[in-house]
Amino acid sequence: VNDLTADTRNGLDEGRTLTGTWYTSPEIWELEKRRVFEQFWQYVGHVEQVAKQGQYFTFQLGNVPIVVLRDAEGQIRGFVNVCCHRGSEVVLEKEGMRQTLQCHYHGWTYGLDGRLRAAPRSKSQPNFDASEYSLQPVRVETWGPFIFATTSDEAPSLFEQLGVLPDLIAKTGVDLDKVRFRSVSDYDVRANWKAVAENFLECYHCAVTHPSFTDTVDLDSFSVVADSYVITETVPLKDDVPAAEQGAYAPGDIRDGRYSFAWPSFMVNVFPGPMNISTNQLIPLGVDRTLVRYQFFFAPEVSAEDEKAVVDFALQIQDEDVQIVESVQRGAASGYFNSGVFFENWENGPQYFQRLLLDTLDGHVATKS
Ligand code: FES
Ligand SMILES: [Fe+2]
Repeated sequence: VNDLTADTRNGLDEGRTLTGTWYTSPEIWELEKRRVFEQFWQYVGHVEQVAKQGQYFTFQLGNVPIVVLRDAEGQIRGFVNVCCHRGSEVVLEKEGMRQTLQCHYHGWTYGLDGRLRAAPRSKSQPNFDASEYSLQPVRVETWGPFIFATTSDEAPSLFEQLGVLPDLIAKTGVDLDKVRFRSVSDYDVRANWKAVAENFLECYHCAVTHPSFTDTVDLDSFSVVADSYVITETVPLKDDVPAAEQGAYAPGDIRDGRYSFAWPSFMVNVFPGPMNISTNQLIPLGVDRTLVRYQFFFAPEVSAEDEKAVVDFALQIQDEDVQIVESVQRGAASGYFNSGVFFENWENGPQYFQRLLLDTLDGHVATKS
């Protein structure tokens, strides 16, 4: 690992980018699963997905399948979704509602607390003691409506990893206790997760890729600020665009678009307009395939019409970005991309991201104090 990262780090400090191999190598992807996706808190879903007792959804942290649920006491809990009997996943469905977790293989049945309650024919098994078998818990913490999980026992608290992000969001005027989930859009993107993140982290491409976005914003006032595991881009609306004529944006109090990335896979947007927040989540499905999940939250009083304006515009931008990152992936896979160049001031975001990646792969991660 250190050989791999040392060379790359030197180039990065001189403004050179990762090479194409980083987006296609199965070995690097395996390493990322262990060192990135199994070490850091990741956004897994929102609280309304587990509103009721027994409601659950499944997720994958690196190589580890997990199930997140609301238990009988009303707590949100997470478990490694691997059966103690013969190692099958317990729950296969993406989401649902059940009062016990019955393994779909031989029917071992766990409670919502993860403890084994019953196993078919266990009476005929000598010395069988159900209390010796429990699903392994994973850590789960929430920030507003957002649920995060990690398989790491070493990771510090979620809020330590999120750093400045909760404060930044509070300053936009968005009240996380108030917003409610409205809609979700999934994109099956044929690109490495890093290509998607890096594209999110710069607006150098905005003028060419997103002309309708660039029309409404003041690109010269674009700024990017990085702090620990959080990178935030701010793009104000043009001064001379009155609130009522903000192009595709619904009218509202928020004037600055704020787009934050929280290592390793969570993006959160506040668009100009009425009280809104959206999550943009990277769920890697393989070295060259990423599920990008867009979830939209609004204050209850925001009308369906204003909601539609914000969502339609965001998804249009997203469609444009998907074209770009899939094209980057094909370029990376060509064998002809032997590192490019980052433009100062415009591409500090992806450059900082690549540094975080190298730091993480080298094993420099925050741990519990
Ligand atoms: S593997 Fe789960 S019951 Fe057999
Ligand atoms: Fe974009």
